[in-house]
Amino acid sequence: MIILAFNYGHDSSACVIIDGEIRAAIAEERLTRAKNDATFPINAIQWCMEWVGITDRDIDIVASAGRNLRLDAHSFFEFPPSTLGVMNGLKSRIKGAIRSNYFRGLGAIDGVLPLYCEKIKLRHDCKVISVEHHLAHAASAYYTAGLGDQKTLIVTMDGIGDVTSCALWRGQNNKIELIRSYGADSSIGWFYGNATEGLGWRHGSDEWKVMGLAPYGNPHPGTLDGFHPVFVDGKLVKPHDYGRFGIWRDHGSQHFHGQEAAALGQIAEKLGREDFSAEVQRVVEEQMMALILPTLREEGVRSVCCSGGCFLNVKFNQKLWYSRALDDQWIYPDPGDAGLAVGAGLHAYYQANPGQSNKRLRDLYWGPSYEDQEIEIILKERGLVFEKPDDLAGRVADLLVKNYAIGWFQGRMEAGPRALGGRSIIMSPLHADNKDRINAKVKYRESFRPFCPSLLAEYRDTYLNNARDERFMITSFEAKEEKHNAIPAVVHVDGTVRPQLVYRETNPRYHDVIKAFGDRTGEYLILNTSFNVKGEPIVCHPREAIKCFFDTGLEALVLGSYVVLKPDIQMRDSECTALQPGAQSM
Ligand SMILES: [Fe+2]
Repeated sequence: MIILAFNYGHDSSACVIIDGEIRAAIAEERLTRAKNDATFPINAIQWCMEWVGITDRDIDIVASAGRNLRLDAHSFFEFPPSTLGVMNGLKSRIKGAIRSNYFRGLGAIDGVLPLYCEKIKLRHDCKVISVEHHLAHAASAYYTAGLGDQKTLIVTMDGIGDVTSCALWRGQNNKIELIRSYGADSSIGWFYGNATEGLGWRHGSDEWKVMGLAPYGNPHPGTLDGFHPVFVDGKLVKPHDYGRFGIWRDHGSQHFHGQEAAALGQIAEKLGREDFSAEVQRVVEEQMMALILPTLREEGVRSVCCSGGCFLNVKFNQKLWYSRALDDQWIYPDPGDAGLAVGAGLHAYYQANPGQSNKRLRDLYWGPSYEDQEIEIILKERGLVFEKPDDLAGRVADLLVKNYAIGWFQGRMEAGPRALGGRSIIMSPLHADNKDRINAKVKYRESFRPFCPSLLAEYRDTYLNNARDERFMITSFEAKEEKHNAIPAVVHVDGTVRPQLVYRETNPRYHDVIKAFGDRTGEYLILNTSFNVKGEPIVCHPREAIKCFFDTGLEALVLGSYVVLKPDIQMRDSECTALQPGAQSM
């Protein structure tokens, strides 16, 4: 069974699922290079289909995230007759025509595909389904958790999706059943977004800056009363009217404006940005705990599956874990709206195949990859001096020990917001000022933002207190006190780390580098941050990696089996003068 699924909206994305296996998935932004791209994900759809080698005639189900197929979807697809899709299409076309310039006398009709964009012509027996936004979030969490027949609580929470801001579900035996849901007046995500905008950042994508700043301040309980809903004992007791919301489109992305952002900004000025952020974070943690903990008890379960943008809040995820209310906490590692394509696709698959089991997700390497041969051609075209060491892991570990900032580009690109050793910037965790070096010279971002480690799974308990198997940097844990000074570049000011546990079976080359670094220094982890500069999507193609390398203070670049050093580093690095056989200089 071949399923094509997509999300068209905030963080558009697509995926192809074959017989229940996610074979390709990517956010539109990675291909168009427009951060948070919210346009129709035609590039993502085309790439996914090409990668798995299918044509439009092979597709059995098209699953769209969100209650309704939007107008532009009908521009790109030729839907089969007698489907919900075509009905929506007719309605949408009429509405679109009424809105179009044509009827304003300008002679143009919106949404007409030019000849060079071919429509995806679906078979007559292809099913087209729409999957409600929060159900798609729930499916992304539950059908990747591998819980078998075990009953679990599923929680989905974001700003708003369709008409829901938060929903509680029961998952068991491959079925997802709604317990209760809440609308816009219960949105925790909007409160966080308004506070983010109040601090001068983008509502809908910069919330994690508030989270990064919060540990530098002290909360002031009571100062933000009246700006958020209140939950008590698992239920909403005080809804909040957020007023009208504005949408701002910026280079294909979609951001939001809340009426209360200005008032929150004034409070931030009074309290100071750090204390304000600390109070915002405290409120969010308090409200989410007040909703989730009693519901766990009500359901009689000690496991939870989570998705939706609010679960990018790694500090909340940590708090829930350390509450000791759980034996198992699974957070879908792409919980924002880019992850909806996978959720919609998995929902479609398990609706059609309710007897199939699922396994817990082990990796997110679902994007494009490039062979050495292709990379070498690109390096030669650029006239770059490069080497191809026999012992790549040892060579890279040596460069890390010399404290170089390295662009690391390997294999298939990872889906989701975190770099996981596919498209990463790596550096030694041993020097405190490496945080400032990367912030100032490479990422061009705020100095308070923390960096996180990729840590060999077998050394987990050497570094972390009461941690679990967590491969996706989606939650933080307390770092062992005795390690704070040993790895200062990856321990946040509050003594926490947000790790990626690295297993050899999922990323052998990355594992080997960390192991080689550990053998040289005694610390089996490295600093890992996403391979991009502030405001840009993570690099996808080798050419983008090279561009980022030369546009920043990165000192070395590892592309597949090849190592490139900046000219001044080449001068300093004596090993570089002894290029390995096969190395080129053009
Ligand atoms: Fe969402």
